[in-house]
Amino acid sequence: MKVDYKTSIPNNVNLSDDKKLQRALERWLPDYADWWMEVGPAGFQQSDVYLRTAISVERGGWAHFDYVKMPEYRWGIFMTPLEEERKIQYGDFIGQKVWQDVPGEYRKELKRLIVTQGDTEPASVEQQSLLGRMSPSLYDMRNLFQVNVEEGRHLWAMVFLLHRHFGRDGREEAHDLLTRRSAHSDHPRMLDTFNEPVLNWLDFFCFAMFTDRDGKYQLAALAESAFDPLSRTCQFMLTEEAHHLFVGETGLARIIRRTAQLMKEAPGGDVRKLAGIPLETIQKTFNYWFSSCLDLFGGEDSSNAASYFSSALKGRFNETNRKKHPNASGLDAFYDYTIIDDKGHEISREIPMRRAMNAILRDDYIADCTRALVKWNKVLEEEGAEQRLALPSEKFNRKIGVFANMCFTPDGKYRVSEKDFERRCKEEWFPTEEEKNYITSVMTPVTEPGQFANWISPPAKGIDGRPIEFEYVKIH
Ligand SMILES: [Fe+2]
Ligand SMILES: [Fe+2]
Repeated sequence: MKVDYKTSIPNNVNLSDDKKLQRALERWLPDYADWWMEVGPAGFQQSDVYLRTAISVERGGWAHFDYVKMPEYRWGIFMTPLEEERKIQYGDFIGQKVWQDVPGEYRKELKRLIVTQGDTEPASVEQQSLLGRMSPSLYDMRNLFQVNVEEGRHLWAMVFLLHRHFGRDGREEAHDLLTRRSAHSDHPRMLDTFNEPVLNWLDFFCFAMFTDRDGKYQLAALAESAFDPLSRTCQFMLTEEAHHLFVGETGLARIIRRTAQLMKEAPGGDVRKLAGIPLETIQKTFNYWFSSCLDLFGGEDSSNAASYFSSALKGRFNETNRKKHPNASGLDAFYDYTIIDDKGHEISREIPMRRAMNAILRDDYIADCTRALVKWNKVLEEEGAEQRLALPSEKFNRKIGVFANMCFTPDGKYRVSEKDFERRCKEEWFPTEEEKNYITSVMTPVTEPGQFANWISPPAKGIDGRPIEFEYVKIH
């Protein structure tokens, strides 16, 4: 499974055996390059960035680190190795061999799943394009750019599947993936969270923590697909995604640690006096991103999710390892969740498990985010702070599912009027304009190797065994 770097499109999928496909992708390549120059990391396209590039897909040995100018990054097409005997682990076709081609009856659904996933990848690059100019360090700047080039590669991964398996429609969809733009009024990205502004590094770390983590769960569910090329593509994307999640989770931990330290040092505990980020602002930013990301999972009771599961297009998180579970077919189990009845009372409702696949995936996601929250609160404890951070209730600020537009407080305990909700979101629950301006004001770039902005603590160690003071980006 070595990657072929001799061709214009590095790959381990024997692209050179399919000249027609190769030519189609070679025609897509310049459009991609234009897109990257237009909306990719602004201001650093000529810099030498210490980036990893995949050279094989084997566990442990796939990354090669070197200085690369981002426009010269070798975006490629990678899949994990074919497992000849791979079988479907769930749904109506349990035990049957997986598919190497798209079955006609699931063409539409599979294309939809791939396009929806594909759309998030370039969207995030667009959302993050201005952050390089306010990097807290060269280490962080390099991590941002690593995330960016890999999201670009994830777009390649989805575009390859569209070109190879979906004919002309697939080529059109691949074209459209380069035409939509995050937050564009006429042709925005497909999912709301991917049209939200990422204004600063607190947003970025929350995005990499909460939004990329939604991506992890979606990719893990698609990695269980009976459509084997999708499964193998997503498996390799997941190995790259792990770094993005690391960037988000540890980035937040580092801000939280620094804030707690500054609370001890600053007169009156006011961290703003030392250019720190107040804990309340961090909490409000959690409120914003976490609630938005919960909507990405879709409604709790979903007939689409049921049919994706029964036809084995999309499984649960870690489906293959659940295979000994008696409910692998999803036919004989139920899922309980809370709804609000006409009188506003919370009541429990039971639906067939197959219909609850979105909720089940989301539950795994929430458990993962809660694990990280415990760690962040541990940092506060270590630094002697009494305050604690929280994730907002799943009832708060929802636009999709049971609690859509219900105007709950962030703790999920009370309902308020729509007017109050809007006002309090602006003034109390989300970062205010004044807080956003303040954050921007402290995010002046720090570009001396080994130096960090005062609002964030240094990482525990560098990248690829390099010291923290390594020159991760040579800015030109
Ligand atoms: Fe991605
Ligand atoms: Fe990612």
